[in-house]
Amino acid sequence: MTPFSILLVGCGNMGNALLSRWREKCADDVRDIHIIDPRAADGIYPSLDALPTTAQVDVVVLAAKPQQLADILPAYRARFGADVLYVSIAAGKTLAFYAEHLGADAAVVRAMPNTPAMVGKGMTALCANSHVSDEQKERASLLMKAVGKTLWVEEAQMNAVTALSGSGPAYVFLFADALVKAGVSLGLTESDARMLALATLHGATHLAETSGENLTNLRQNVTSPGGTTEAALRVLMEGNVLEKLLEKALQEASNRAETLSK
Ligand SMILES: NC(=O)c1ccc[n+]([C@@H]2O[C@H](COP(=O)([O-])OP(=O)(O)OC[C@H]3O[C@@H](n4cnc5c(N)ncnc54)[C@H](OP(=O)(O)O)[C@@H]3O)[C@@H](O)[C@H]2O)c1
Repeated sequence: MTPFSILLVGCGNMGNALLSRWREKCADDVRDIHIIDPRAADGIYPSLDALPTTAQVDVVVLAAKPQQLADILPAYRARFGADVLYVSIAAGKTLAFYAEHLGADAAVVRAMPNTPAMVGKGMTALCANSHVSDEQKERASLLMKAVGKTLWVEEAQMNAVTALSGSGPAYVFLFADALVKAGVSLGLTESDARMLALATLHGATHLAETSGENLTNLRQNVTSPGGTTEAALRVLMEGNVLEKLLEKALQEASNRAETLSK
């Protein structure tokens, strides 16, 4: 990949997480990183006006709040040509929104990371408009792979992605919390129950990812007939309640994402 230069717009929680990983992992591919944030500090420009006109910019990464973008984008549209790639991590803003504010010929990738990106274990779904070249797609992938895994999808699937991996960490925290409480009710201390629950979630997901085995087989492998797991699963799987509940919950989240993106 030809080395390229980035302009990061918005250096809050997500912007900072991306920045530190780019510096750590993308040194071979990323030439310069310019940063714009109103909370200017050493090496951070307070606005686009302050960025030297000589600064090379190949990729603009938009990491400001979604509601700030309509005000921010016109200045970028005026400053940069159609050869610049925009990668936006703003939740809920559609490719049509960027076409409206950056021009119909702007190359735009919409990225939807989740909060584990903060610790380099994010899941980011990406979709691109028709102006994004293969090399620009590779660049967008590289930038988001710095904070975890990536998956390219069609824009029509973004609401489903938001419902699954975007909001998903909250479902996992809820489940983990319920496990901890159940452990405490059996006599464990809260800190022991927390350690047991989190290490079990981490280990089980790692096993599922690395073994390549399907999830049903993995579950059956730890379920001996007449054993303890079978006793618990009989309760958990009764009437498919959990499956139905999750289907309903994800549908609600997806509907909400659809409404918010309008
Ligand atoms: N946090 C997550 O887990 C997560 C997950 C998925 C997607 N996202 C998306 O990531 C984006 C950033 O979220 P965040 O949690 O990192 O928000 P954040 O911490 O508020 O960061 C946004 C930063 O952008 C700055 N900013 C405001 N106006 C600006 C401008 N004109 N030019 C440049 N920078 C400007 C803000 O400064 P001020 O504070 O001074 O306004 C702030 O430092 C959002 O669009 C969000 O939807 C976040």
